[in-house]
Formats: sequence, C-alpha cells, structure tokens
Amino acid sequence: MTDSEKNKFVPKEWPRKLRSTEWFGGTSRDHIYHRSWMKNQGLPADLFDGRPVIGICNTWSQLTPCNSHLRDLAERVKHGIYEAGGLPLEFPVFSVGESSLRPTAMMYRNMAAMDVEEALRANPLDGVVLLAGCDKTTPALIMGACSVDIPAIVVSGGPMLNGYFRGERVGSGTALWQMSEDIKAGKMTQEDFLEAEQSMSRSVGSCNTMGTASTMASMAEALGLALSGNAAIPAVDSRRRVMAHLTGRRIVDMVKDDLKPSDILTRQAFENAIRVNGAIGGSTNAVIHLLAIAGRVGVDLTLDDWDKFGQDIATIVNLMPSGKYLMEEFFYAGGLPVVIKHLAEAGKLHNNALTVSGSSIWEEVQNVKNWNPDVILPVDKALTQKGGIVVLKGNLAPKGAVLKPSAASEHLLQHRGRAVVFEDIDDYKAKINDENLDIDENCVMVLKNCGPKGYPGMAEVGNMGLPPKVLRKGIKDMVRISDARMSGTAYGTVVLHTTPEAAAGGPLAVIQNGDMIELDVKNRRLHVDISDEEMAQRLANWKSHLENPKGGYIKLFHDHVQGADTGADFDFLKGCRGAAVPKDSH
Ligand code: FES
Repeated sequence: MTDSEKNKFVPKEWPRKLRSTEWFGGTSRDHIYHRSWMKNQGLPADLFDGRPVIGICNTWSQLTPCNSHLRDLAERVKHGIYEAGGLPLEFPVFSVGESSLRPTAMMYRNMAAMDVEEALRANPLDGVVLLAGCDKTTPALIMGACSVDIPAIVVSGGPMLNGYFRGERVGSGTALWQMSEDIKAGKMTQEDFLEAEQSMSRSVGSCNTMGTASTMASMAEALGLALSGNAAIPAVDSRRRVMAHLTGRRIVDMVKDDLKPSDILTRQAFENAIRVNGAIGGSTNAVIHLLAIAGRVGVDLTLDDWDKFGQDIATIVNLMPSGKYLMEEFFYAGGLPVVIKHLAEAGKLHNNALTVSGSSIWEEVQNVKNWNPDVILPVDKALTQKGGIVVLKGNLAPKGAVLKPSAASEHLLQHRGRAVVFEDIDDYKAKINDENLDIDENCVMVLKNCGPKGYPGMAEVGNMGLPPKVLRKGIKDMVRISDARMSGTAYGTVVLHTTPEAAAGGPLAVIQNGDMIELDVKNRRLHVDISDEEMAQRLANWKSHLENPKGGYIKLFHDHVQGADTGADFDFLKGCRGAAVPKDSH
C-alpha cells in the first residue's frame, strides 16, 4: 500500500446547514410553501428542523418483476433513517426491467440515469438510498447519483431463491438458454420446457445466477458503495430487510460526514471492482457499466484496464453460468466479503479503499470466513486461473472487443474459421434453423448491427444459439462474434462489444461470408484475413441499410450514445454536474 492509497477522507463538522435547508429552513413564503405541501402527508413540524432529508430512490415496478418487492424494503430503509434522526422521502424513477422491455433494457439505462440525476438535483435531498435490483437498475442509479455527487448508498433487492426442476438446480437465464438448445437438439420436449418454466422463478428477487444483476450488486459492494455483505442476501431472507434497515441508518451519518460518491469512487475502487469481477466470474455487462460510472465521476478508466487488472485473477466463485451453484448458496458460504478477503490477502486489492461504512474495504472483511469451499473455491481448485475479462483487438475490432474466458470453451480460445455472416438479428433468425445453411462447428458465426446504435440499444443477443444441425452432433459451442452484449447468465466462446460497431461503420460491417477469421485469446487478437487495402476498399463502399430514427427518445439515444468501449453513455451525460441548488421560481 502506498500513501496515495490511504484513505484521505475527513468527515465534515456537524451540525451544519444542508442543501435541504434551502427549501425548508426559513420563514419566507417560499419556505412555507415547500413545508406546508409536504405536511399534507402527515409529517410533524419538527421533521423540518434541519435534519438530513434522505431520498429513497425506488425502482419498484410490477413491470420489473425482479424489483417487485422493493416497496417493502423501502419501508425498512425508512425505519433506519427515522431511527438515525433523518427524514425519509421515497420517490420513484424509471424502472428498467430486463425481462420485458423492448427493444432492449439497455436502451433505457441512460434515460433512467438521467431521471435519477434530475430528480436528485431538483429536490430537497441531502442524501439518497438507491434501491436497485434488476440488471440495469444498479448502474443507472449509480450513474445518476454520481453526476450529482450527494451522499449515496446502494441497497440491492437481492437474488431469487434457488429454482429446482426434477431435482436439478435451475439457474435464471442459464437454464433457459440451455433448455432452448436442448429442444433444438431433440433432447427435451416442449412439454417439459413448459413445465420447467414454473420452476425458474421461485421467489421475488433478481436472477439467482452470477448474471448481470448479481454481478452489479457485487460491483456496488466491491466499489464500496454498499454495506458489506449486501450483494448475496436472498430477496426473501429476513437479513435482506436488516440490510435495508442498516442502510437507512448509515445514510444519515454519511450526510452528516458529507461522504460522497466522489470520495469513494477512486481509481483504486474501480481496480478493486475489476478484480472482484474476475474472481466471481461476473458478467461482461459490468465492463460497460463500470466504464460509464467511471465516466460520471471523472475516473479515467479504459477498456484495456479490464484486461490489465483482471488478467491474473482466478475465478473462485462456483456459480452458474461459469460453475454449478446459485446465489443462495453463495450467501450461505459467506458471500462477497469472503471473496474480497481472499483477494486482499493475496495482495490483489487496494485494501484501504474507502467504503460507505466509513471504514476501508479490508476492515469490513477481515474477520469473515468461508463456510463452504465447494461454493467459494480455494485458488488451486478455481474454475479458471484467468478469470478476468479478455480485451481483444485487431483489424476486426480496432477499439476492442471482449470475451469471458470462464464462460468459454478452452479448445476454441485459439481458433481460425470461415465466417458465416448474419446482417442483423432478423437475418440470423431467418437463417439459423435452415438445414441448407452452409455452416459447421468450425465456422465462426458473425452477427452485425446489434450494437448501441444498430439494434438500437445493444441487445443481449451475442450468445446466438447454434444451428440445429450442429447441435444434433452433440456440439455445444462455436466461436461467435458480434457488436452485441450477452446476458450475464449466458455462456460460450462469444466475442462481444466489437467496437466500432457495424452500424457506426466499424470493420464488423464489412465482414463477408467465407472470410477467414482468427480468434487468438492468448495474444488478444481478433483478425479477419484480408489485406489492409481490401479492408479500406470495403469500408469506403459500405453504406448502412438501417434507417435513422426520426424522433422521440430513440433519436436522442441514436444521436448521442457512445461506443461500448467507453460505456455506451450519452456524450452529454458524461461527468459530474454537481448538486448546486437550482433557482426557486415560486
Ligand atoms: Fe431482472 Fe435477471 S431479469 S435480474
């Protein structure tokens, strides 16, 4: 540890004037207006005495089933806030539900972040509890809070309980992808598939695999933005309510100390999170979300940092999609604090990184124990010794592409094959089941126009299903390349986030059937075997066949979304715009 890594945070003096005092702390007409209308909710006068006013930013929605229990948790947060001497005020923001939103939930992450940012700045709030769960809700809330930079703390909804079908664990998403491939291969009947549907979602909560929701809850904890132990507690476990209660207590003290996201989210915090992501076998979506969060707090994190800091990290969390267990078992084994402790003891973390508790990340985990070494594995039994996200570059992806080795097949990590190209997702759907499609297991499947601008929104379609005629041979994996994302619950030798994307005129756009493609994970290379001249010629002749949107949010998205290599945030949302109190017009 160097001096520069030491926690430099110095709490502010308390009591002092807070930003909510601008609304509530006076006797003018405007102050009376602000207080009086609030009092129509039955709030006693002494709640406006200058105590911290805490927003509870809630992504509850019945359209986001993974977050459908968050109103109950909000009540628990309120108990904690009142107990600690604060005034809780709950408010809704746009809830980004992964399972239903079209064209893809990712298209709305930035919109939700904008909603959070404006709600925080415009309202009389001194601090905020971010109630998140489903995939995009966690990054959206953190991004919005970072752009305002008032004290903020995350409490996650927690994962669903284990699902079981005929005695086997059913992992959210992972089982769905596997079963749909089994149907194509003739190994499962449609009737069994429908029966299995009932077993996939056993309780409220987010996906129970180490998918994107669990990954992002883990990232929030690893970054220091949630209380230790937050990520893995099942949604319906009483300890989830305790976590919400304690979080409510803690935010009041954070406001008194003025402990803000910018104090916590240092470069060291991001490096810690990247390493934790490698150890948990986390979702590739974390790459995009952490780059976007870093952009909001002004930390110069790059795509290459993912490879640099994740490279030598063993994946020790034996959870689907990379391993065998589910989040419930991860919690019983000790959860994320055990993983953080292991990395810290191995010298792979910045131990003094500050957390929302006011203590360092090391202080939070030093006394935890691993209660199940089959779930949190010893390093010599790790799922892979190279668990980090690999960043590939080459003439097919000049700005980079990513691959998750822990979800890939070892024998395909060095592969050369003939490209079979799908111009977009409709083209893929139209051709993939055609028995006459000229494809075998040695080919490389290439999917275009599924990036941020192309889909639009960058859908989770990168793990395209294999052709039935290949599946029937018992083949389970092929090299697949796209500018899309992949669900954190998915698996395979899948190259994702190819940047620049096809719709922005990246080289992916001009790959043709029959081109020879080389994937060389060891040397981080993604190459199409054509000359520079041929590539330049093809790019010069390229024209997009996609129509630009004419209006509405989709146009804003199309015109301003940045590449996956920098987090797919909007160009005008990057950075922190602060919490200066807007002018009063009443
Ligand atoms: Fe909501 Fe997976 S679909 S967490």
